[in-house]
Amino acid sequence: MRVHVALTPADGSGLALEGWAAIVVDVLRATTTVVAACAAGCVRIIPVADPCAARARAALFPAGEVLLAGERGGEPIPGFPLGNSPLEYTPERVRGRTILLTTTNGTAAMLGAGSAGVAAAAALSNVSAAAGWALRQGRDLVVLCSGDGGAFSVEDAVCAGLIVSRAAAPGVDLSDAAVAALGLGEYYAPRIGDLRVASRWARRLARAGRSADVDACLRRDTTDMVPIIDAGGIVPGPGVIAAAPAAPAGAADPEAMR
Ligand code: MLT
Repeated sequence: MRVHVALTPADGSGLALEGWAAIVVDVLRATTTVVAACAAGCVRIIPVADPCAARARAALFPAGEVLLAGERGGEPIPGFPLGNSPLEYTPERVRGRTILLTTTNGTAAMLGAGSAGVAAAAALSNVSAAAGWALRQGRDLVVLCSGDGGAFSVEDAVCAGLIVSRAAAPGVDLSDAAVAALGLGEYYAPRIGDLRVASRWARRLARAGRSADVDACLRRDTTDMVPIIDAGGIVPGPGVIAAAPAAPAGAADPEAMR
């Protein structure tokens, strides 16, 4: 098994993901929100590139059938009933609904993961369940960090490192980026709250009065829900994923991913 971490969107953009298991991470806040929405019973989340595309896509559905959701610059989009705070995604608001979601960084990463063999969304809130899902796929694994405006995001790298730590074992081939994420995960595992200060975006959200969101996004393993990313969007995982057949001999090589 090979494990790689794309620490920024640019690291992930040129990867050939066919045959791989991919996990998308955007701890503050898009994948935490996606996990919360799936745990609250939403039917499907459709990631969309931008607010204009989201409005156009909504027009294809019967009136009132879908919920528009998302943010730009961390603030809700005018006219959208839902922002990107995981605290908004309660069963009362999302159970049984289809959600069209667009965010600054996270939804682009989710759209990019569609070319992988199998893909899921992870955050700190479901990090252990997501790592277990990855191991059960029997495939090489890549963790795609959504980053912060294209730049490295420490909270995403920490989450990726916690996933890598579950996969790391004798014979597992970690890329250098996976080793770096592993080290960050090991350092922050006992001090996750320090990310409130270490993360630029966490500091920005707190200044905007969204400390409750930051607190919610930094809570580990509050659910075992693993959202599955497929061609039609993101759906609540079916619980325990049946082990997929082992990757064929000569599985894809990280170097070949470039
Ligand atoms: C993103 O997609 O970049 C983040 O989720 C932005 C946010 O804090 O909502």
